[in-house]
Amino acid sequence: MGNWSFFFPEGASTTSGQVDALYFFLIAISVFFSVLIGALLVVFAIQFRRKSDSFVPDAIHGSLPLELTWTIIPLGIVLIIFLWSAEVFFTLHRVPKDAMQINVVGKRWMWKIQHMTGQREISELHVPVGVPIKLTLTSEDVIHSFFVPAFRIKKDAVPGRYNTIWFQATKPGKYHLFCAEYCGTKHSGMIGSVYVMEPAQFQTWLSGAGSGTTPSAAGEKLFTDLACVTCHRADTGQRGPALDGLFGKPVKLAGGGSLTADEAYIRESILQPSAKVVEGYQPIMPTFQGIVSEEQVMQLVAYIQTLRSQGPKPEAANTAAGMAKP
Ligand code: CUA
Repeated sequence: MGNWSFFFPEGASTTSGQVDALYFFLIAISVFFSVLIGALLVVFAIQFRRKSDSFVPDAIHGSLPLELTWTIIPLGIVLIIFLWSAEVFFTLHRVPKDAMQINVVGKRWMWKIQHMTGQREISELHVPVGVPIKLTLTSEDVIHSFFVPAFRIKKDAVPGRYNTIWFQATKPGKYHLFCAEYCGTKHSGMIGSVYVMEPAQFQTWLSGAGSGTTPSAAGEKLFTDLACVTCHRADTGQRGPALDGLFGKPVKLAGGGSLTADEAYIRESILQPSAKVVEGYQPIMPTFQGIVSEEQVMQLVAYIQTLRSQGPKPEAANTAAGMAKP
């Protein structure tokens, strides 16, 4: 598509070209009609000027062809914009199945990032090139927004909920990370960097970064420490639903309805247990609101994701799923 660098920041993700093309189309349409209207104003002002003091122009009556033209053409244009935007929107929000999971918690005024292999970063994000990355975003205080112009992604980190966005970087390098939602005094200082690395280099970084405890291992410990285990095991008298193999599966709810057990559902069930009770169970679970931090909730979710139905759990099942690829 040529060199857009005059109009756009560098594009370094698989979707940046699509976003730019749509954006350029919107600009082109706007410029075209601005120029057309401006030019017609001048032309008509001259052509239909008052030619003498006694001149009275003919009265204007309606014109059906004209009405149809200026209705149908704009309708067609906005429908193109709608369909095109919808396509780009779905591309940006349908996370590839094999994406590598990374958790991001916004906090005034930093980004707290954790890899599924345990590495933590503050306002820096290291990722391998050519691998789809799924970010699960939330916030500990106010709304922030995770913005990487080079990847053309921007997603709010909202307290009390999980948002997801994904990207696949195409070029190694260092890219700007901004907070794009005004969040207080040091909003402008809530900046960071995304480092896109060759896979081998990324592995070196991973092993050098000191993995510490993985989120799922931390979650497993919490699961015991908070005594979740006393109700949520197949062999504990079934006071609460067993969680083995739960993740990604449909759940039937008391009072009808069903949903898929995703991160957001598990989070809600920890913090507001009676919001969506599983069919056949009583709403007896206490809330853990105020007892666990957002990061700890993410760890519990990571642990529950590793629980497979029956059998031993594979170590860190969803760990860096995409990293094995060259
Ligand atoms: Cu965080 Cu602005």
